[in-house]
This record gives sequence, structure tokens and C-alpha cells, in this order.
Amino acid sequence: MTRLAFCCTNTNADPWLDGLRAALPEADVSLWRSGDPVADYAVVWAPPQDFFDQQPGLKAAFNIGAGVDALLKLQIAPTTLLVRLDDAGMAAQMAEYVCHAIIRAYRGLDHYAAIAQTGRWQPIEPPARTDFPVGIMGLGVLGARVAQAVRQFEFPVNGWSRTAKALDGIECFHGRAQLPAFLAATRVLVCLIPLTPDTRGILNRHTLAQLRPGGVVINVARGAHLVDDDLLALLDSGHLSGATLDVFHTEPLPADHPFWRHPKVTVTPHVSAQTLRQQSITQIAQKLRTLERGEAVAGMVDRASGY
Ligand code: NAP
Ligand code: GLV
Repeated sequence: MTRLAFCCTNTNADPWLDGLRAALPEADVSLWRSGDPVADYAVVWAPPQDFFDQQPGLKAAFNIGAGVDALLKLQIAPTTLLVRLDDAGMAAQMAEYVCHAIIRAYRGLDHYAAIAQTGRWQPIEPPARTDFPVGIMGLGVLGARVAQAVRQFEFPVNGWSRTAKALDGIECFHGRAQLPAFLAATRVLVCLIPLTPDTRGILNRHTLAQLRPGGVVINVARGAHLVDDDLLALLDSGHLSGATLDVFHTEPLPADHPFWRHPKVTVTPHVSAQTLRQQSITQIAQKLRTLERGEAVAGMVDRASGY
């Protein structure tokens, strides 16, 4: 019988174990405890190094998130396939979160919320849509979906990825050489790239200064993409007009962090696209069976690229 170990930190295990057992009746699904017999597959989120040290023969580990930056810090046998979530209900959530943040900025909705407190009636005219181009860093599973959704509102949309892409209605840029052109064409910057050695700190004084004046930053990828003090300096200088941040260097965001109180910053607690348990379990069960047949699955992590 196929053995599946569940090892997810900060996750209520019981509903996951029940769901995995229902979806994979042919497997022996158990909550991992140190010293357990070795498993064939694992479902993981931020597992301890000890888990992989005790599982040298694991065929595959299914990460219950899209980002694998934490997983790739661990020593994992090269024969273990790493598989991440591939949408599983996250793309629609990400599209609604990012469109909401863009529209709030474009229509000045924070201005109306503020003046409503004092009973003021003060309409403002939004800029021409052509003066509000949106640039999406990352055109993968989530970024491509977000790009399509933003396009529905008729904003000009630019996209930037590592390798060349062609997406209908999107001005596509790729690679470091085209980053300056992408930034110069962008006013609202959405970060949806994975955190890798190449992308750490990519939202910094130098890159953010290349955005069009009145720029807006939406970071929904990882906190370590952003140099916090550089963002604050550009908000305070007026070059940037606002930021919506869902991810941070330290989570939860410490109570004394200036982002909490900055008038141009909106903070949310890493919720832009949450893991949906049932959709994730269905996807993992399908992928496990596909791998057992010796076939490839979507969402395989390329350890050399870091995502
Ligand atoms: P994905 O399908 O792997 O897409 C990643 C995209 O980033 C690809 O287009 C890739 O380019 C591009 N990219 C990677 N390295 C790059 C580089 N050095 N320069 C330029 N582009 C680069 O990943 P996804 O499923 O869309 O998820 C993206 C990230 O979102 C995750 O890694 C995670 O950190 C974050 N996330 C956050 C939340 C949240 O709640 N805040 C939820 C889910 C995911 P290619 O297309 O050329 O490969
Ligand atoms: C959440 O941040 C994820 O990577 O799925």
C-alpha cells in the first residue's frame, strides 16, 4: 500500500487527513511523527529538516502552496520530486485581490473613505486609463490570470517574465535586459514572481524609481522581494502614491513596523490567495496517481531555477 505522510507546520491536520483519506482510499495516510517508517509520498508545508533527513526514499513531496522558497532552503534528496500547487483555486483569489487594489487606487476610493469621515462631498477625476498602465512581474499560473483579469478593465497591461511569452492583449517583456523598459512603461507594479536568489530585493530604490510618477506597488509574492526602507523613501518623496502589501520579511508583520501606520500603505495578513483545502487535496490526489503511472504532472519544481 502507498504510504503518504502529512507534515505541515501551522496547519490543522485533522481535516486534511480526513480529506486525503477520502480522496486516496488506496493509500495509507498518516500524520508524520519522528521515527515513523518511511513514506512513498508526502504532503508538506514548512516541514522541519528532520522530516526529509528521515525520508531519503520519498518519491515526491507535494507543497500545499504555490511558493517553494521555504522548501528549497532544506536539504532534500535529489531523487525526491517537488510538486507545488498549480492554481488550485488561488488564481481567481489573486485576480480579485489585485484588481481590487488597482481599482481602489485608480478611482481614489481611499480618498472617499477618508473624507466620508468628515461628511465632505468632493469628487475627483481619475486619470485617463492610458495613464494608468499596469505591469505584472511574473506571468506564470497566477500572473497570467491576473493579467487577463486586469485587461478586462481596459487598463494597458505589461508583463515581465524570465523567458519570452506571448499573451493576448499584454505587452510582454522578459529577462533582466528588458526590465528597465518594462518598468518605464508601468505605473502600477504587481509583484507575482517567486522568491529566488535572482529576485530577492528586486523591488528597491533603483527599480521602483523607474516606475512612472504616481506609481503604485502591489506586492503579493514574498516580503523579501521588497526593500522596505526604499519603498518608504519613495512614498515619502511623492514619486510613489501608494502600496498594497500582503507579504512581509517577518510574518506576522511586527507591531512597530512603519507599514502599519503609513497613510499610503495598505497591509493585509498574507491572504491574497489562500490555500483551499478541498481543491488542493483533489489536485494532489490526481497528481499522485499520475506520478504512480510514470507520467509528468504540472507544477514540478525546477530546483536549478528555484521555482
Ligand atoms: P509560477 O507559475 O511558477 O510563475 C512564476 C512566474 O515568475 C513565471 O512567469 C516566471 O517566468 C517568472 N519568473 C521567475 N523568475 C523570474 C526572474 N528571475 N525574472 C523574471 N521573471 C521570473 O508561479 P505562480 O503559481 O504564478 O506563483 C507566483 C508566486 O506567487 C509564488 O512563488 C508565491 O511566492 C506567490 N504567492 C503568493 C500568495 C499569497 O497569498 N500572497 C499565494 C500564492 C502564491 P517564466 O514564465 O519565464 O518561467
Ligand atoms: C502562499 O503564499 C503560497 O505560496 O501559496
